Amino acid sequence: MGILEGKIGIVTGAGQGIGRAIAQCFAREGAKVLVADFNAESGNQTVQLIVDAGGEARFVQGDVSDEASVKSLVATAVDSWGRLDIACNSAALSRGSGPIHEFTREVFDQTLEMCLTNTWLCMKYEIPAMLANGGGAIVNISSNASLKGQAFNTAYAAAKSGVNILTKSSAAEYGGQGIRINAVSPGVIRTPGVEKYFEEQPKTAEILKKSAVLNRLGEPEEIAEAVAFLCSDRASFITGQLLSVDGGGSVK
Ligand SMILES: NC(=O)c1ccc[n+]([C@@H]2O[C@H](COP(=O)([O-])OP(=O)(O)OC[C@H]3O[C@@H](n4cnc5c(N)ncnc54)[C@H](O)[C@@H]3O)[C@@H](O)[C@H]2O)c1
Repeated sequence: MGILEGKIGIVTGAGQGIGRAIAQCFAREGAKVLVADFNAESGNQTVQLIVDAGGEARFVQGDVSDEASVKSLVATAVDSWGRLDIACNSAALSRGSGPIHEFTREVFDQTLEMCLTNTWLCMKYEIPAMLANGGGAIVNISSNASLKGQAFNTAYAAAKSGVNILTKSSAAEYGGQGIRINAVSPGVIRTPGVEKYFEEQPKTAEILKKSAVLNRLGEPEEIAEAVAFLCSDRASFITGQLLSVDGGGSVK
């Protein structure tokens, strides 16, 4: 029996990369999964991969920085399977990188919207669905850029440090009502998003590729295993924590 047997879950940004691996891992561990993404083609592919492996999943297309979309995706999970037990808010999109004095206000604002406000919005609708059922578990995906900061990636780093405090504050708010809320901070993980960033910022890429003490990039499945554990009853006394899954990048 899987560690998430019988649970109902949502994974945002599950069309590719880390989000897809989390959705697959949730399903492998016995959960029914609502896959949410902007991209219908890749989101449907994730569902197909889960179904082909014997799991159960549904896709909802939407932008999780849009309140109506978030409301509708949480409602779809509850309408489909009767409740919501677990959620991983993984969707994020940086709108740009570079020195602050060359950044536009628009890029800064949009990056906060797509990395921090979206996470808050998802929690705003996931939490009442969990409260209606007596509790649940949420994992927000942060980034090691939030720990020490990251030159030329300031909007993203600031947004992700906001995700950390959002996680800790909400854990304190809802622990008494049976909802555990944690965050996972990935190091450098081999995903389509990161491959694109490496192409755009080759100098930063060389530094990032050497950031783990384990001397390699991480794989999306290695993040997924940590998220599944934190969402499971095996992590029943863990809340308000930020777990770095980074091959030791944060201790280098
Ligand atoms: N890959 C890494 O090295 C790394 C490191 C640290 C943190 N992270 C974090 O992990 C998470 C996943 O990263 P990834 O590398 O797999 O990303 P990715 O860019 O490869 O995939 C992100 C997915 O999320 C979707 N998405 C983005 N914003 C969305 C929105 N508003 N609404 C709906 N769908 C949306 C995209 O369509 C895409 O399918 C992100 O939160 C990212 O910041 C990644």
